Amino acid sequence: MPHVFVTNRDGLTHWVEYIPGDSLMDALHNAGLTELRALCGGCLSCATCHVYVDPRSPASRSPFGELEGIVIGGLSAPRENSRLACQLILTSALDGLAITLPPEG
Ligand code: FES
Repeated sequence: MPHVFVTNRDGLTHWVEYIPGDSLMDALHNAGLTELRALCGGCLSCATCHVYVDPRSPASRSPFGELEGIVIGGLSAPRENSRLACQLILTSALDGLAITLPPEG
């Protein structure tokens, strides 16, 4: 089963399996990683699902939608590899993707 590596705010890395087609947000919540709050449930209104994607991954360079770009632009510390987990759909090609949860802020 494909998986992602998730480094949490304590620096611990978790192995999270997913079903292709799931969002990263759903995969993390299905794995019990509630540290990613995702308060709006994927409605693009909260940005509490912000993650940093491994800059070596194609997922860090895939174009995001206009609304995702607006929400990320409103973050206090966006990076080039910032993504919203609710908008990042996990495909088989992303097997092994590494993400990091940013500091809360
Ligand atoms: S869960 Fe709210 S913007 Fe992603």
